[in-house]
Amino acid sequence: MSSPVDQLAILWYPPAYDIRVEKVAFPRIEHPDDAIVKVKLAGLCGSDLHIYRGTAGLTESCVCGHEFVGEVIELGSSFHPASRDRPSLYSTLKVGDKVISPFTVSCGECHFCRLGFTCRCAECCLFGTPSTPGGQAQYVRVPKAGGTLYRLGEVVVAYAGQELEMRRSIPKLADSSLLMLCDILPTGVFAAFQALNHPKSLPMTTSHPYPHSSTIVTLKGAQAPSGLRQHDTVLLIAVIGLGPVGMCACIAALDTFYTKGLDFKLVAIDLNEARRSKLARIYSKISQEQERGYLQVASIEDSRNIVSEWSNGVGCSVVLEAVGNNSALSLAYELVRPFGCITSVGVHSNSTVPFTGQELYDKNVSLDFGRCPVRAMFPMALDLLVRRQDIFGEIGGEVSLVDKVVGFSEAGRMYEEFDKGKCGKVLFDPWK
Ligand SMILES: NC(=O)c1ccc[n+]([C@@H]2O[C@H](COP(=O)([O-])OP(=O)(O)OC[C@H]3O[C@@H](n4cnc5c(N)ncnc54)[C@H](O)[C@@H]3O)[C@@H](O)[C@H]2O)c1
Ligand SMILES: [Zn+2]
Ligand SMILES: [Zn+2]
Repeated sequence: MSSPVDQLAILWYPPAYDIRVEKVAFPRIEHPDDAIVKVKLAGLCGSDLHIYRGTAGLTESCVCGHEFVGEVIELGSSFHPASRDRPSLYSTLKVGDKVISPFTVSCGECHFCRLGFTCRCAECCLFGTPSTPGGQAQYVRVPKAGGTLYRLGEVVVAYAGQELEMRRSIPKLADSSLLMLCDILPTGVFAAFQALNHPKSLPMTTSHPYPHSSTIVTLKGAQAPSGLRQHDTVLLIAVIGLGPVGMCACIAALDTFYTKGLDFKLVAIDLNEARRSKLARIYSKISQEQERGYLQVASIEDSRNIVSEWSNGVGCSVVLEAVGNNSALSLAYELVRPFGCITSVGVHSNSTVPFTGQELYDKNVSLDFGRCPVRAMFPMALDLLVRRQDIFGEIGGEVSLVDKVVGFSEAGRMYEEFDKGKCGKVLFDPWK
């Protein structure tokens, strides 16, 4: 069968706010490690908005989108059964296989990929940029596809005893649910994981004072001093930004608290009332039959009083930032307590951050920034996706993360609405 000459895609044009649906060239295999994927669904993400608003520094038009699930229609010559010493997909991936793509390319073979720091792969590229056309298209070229893509059939989940259950559940997952794995759910899980495993939050999550709380400490014969009070180990946490990523971060943090039986108080902050209400409904659902912990949604103004009241003016142990602007970072610094940590997953394009070295020093604040290593976080995100199908399984419901699935003809309107916070997560069906 010969491939078509062109295809439909959603394009962004500089300088800003210009989205067009146009015919572009059908993607071709350019390197033996490439795969061509027929896109079944593509996501619209807060990260697309940085490009949309013209703040990402791009000057050339590009095919948008970095979240897509689809089916392999063509493979480069590196894919063959005798492929050796390479990621397993090079010897097993077949035309017709269903695949999920992380939002960045990762080779699976370099030092960073081997360590699990896949977002900083030596071959890393971001889909939806001029150099790597994105997934809001009917077809997309995936570089280093044997290291980048997931084929669900092969997923081995590192949870003892649950593998069988996962194998039963995974084939039932809808494409709209699987799409959460391209970016927003791993990123939410990553934010919560980074914050709750930070040495500065371990005293609260392990009930051992610092530094005995850290397993890396080997003080032979030394006893952790006792005397922690019950309220010392209640983890106070703020999540700033309740777009799809911030909501996933809240869900991932709640899941960790409930699974580990931890006490917590979480304030979830956004300036958008509709987003706060959505998270409040999600929390009511998730917290059913849970006795510990408390989540409160708040406006920016209210969040300061809430944190002050909860902590006697001390502040939060950890603050997750999922917005991507300096006003959110300033609030994070205000809310974090001395010896606390700020985990920021928002994409920042400002040339400065809104705190000085002295301010960081005087509060002993740890800063954690950057892109999610989706490929590495995938098993944890998949596990949560399977267990929380009440949130991630449906479309357009009261507590659904995905708001709607639309055709390309609605792209311009959807970018505008999502940018203004008038809708939640939107998916594009290129064949609708
Ligand atoms: N680190 C990563 O790997 C990664 C992955 C995906 C997305 N992101 C980034 O995460 C951020 C969130 O993504 P999203 O899809 O949820 O986007 P989004 O734009 O839908 O969500 C941002 C939310 O922040 C709120 N907001 C804006 N300014 C605020 C402020 N000063 N204080 C509190 N809330 C504020 C908005 O009302 C909105 O609800 C974006 O910056 C996106 O680029 C990063
Ligand atoms: Zn994204
Ligand atoms: Zn790599």
